[in-house]
Amino acid sequence: MPEGMSEEQHDFQTEIAKAALMLVRLQPENIKDKRELDWSHEGIVAFSKICTHVGCPINLYEQQTHHVLCPCHQSTFDLSDGGRVIFGPAGHALPQLRIRANDQGYLEAMGDFSEPVGPAYWERG
Ligand code: FES
Repeated sequence: MPEGMSEEQHDFQTEIAKAALMLVRLQPENIKDKRELDWSHEGIVAFSKICTHVGCPINLYEQQTHHVLCPCHQSTFDLSDGGRVIFGPAGHALPQLRIRANDQGYLEAMGDFSEPVGPAYWERG
């Protein structure tokens, strides 16, 4: 649940949809992007679940390759390499969320996503 958001907001469902997140545990030694190591907690990485092509929810994760597939037009992203696009029409990597474990052991975000969430054709300069 994004901080400061409540179910009373009139655009709650829209905001929740934009905040959809994938949490995946990788072996730290399998993480290729060293920045990603700093943005993760003990191999747990957090990426936007919204495809950067036209915004479908991504949900097909392949554990052996660490690839995640968008079911709409088959864009494929490598979660062990900064969410980089390795196949398909998506033009940008999946935005990553920097996380850590707090004093109680709960994962928490340390800021916003690395890039605007969603399709590449809006919210970008
Ligand atoms: S919306 Fe994901 S590949 Fe088109």
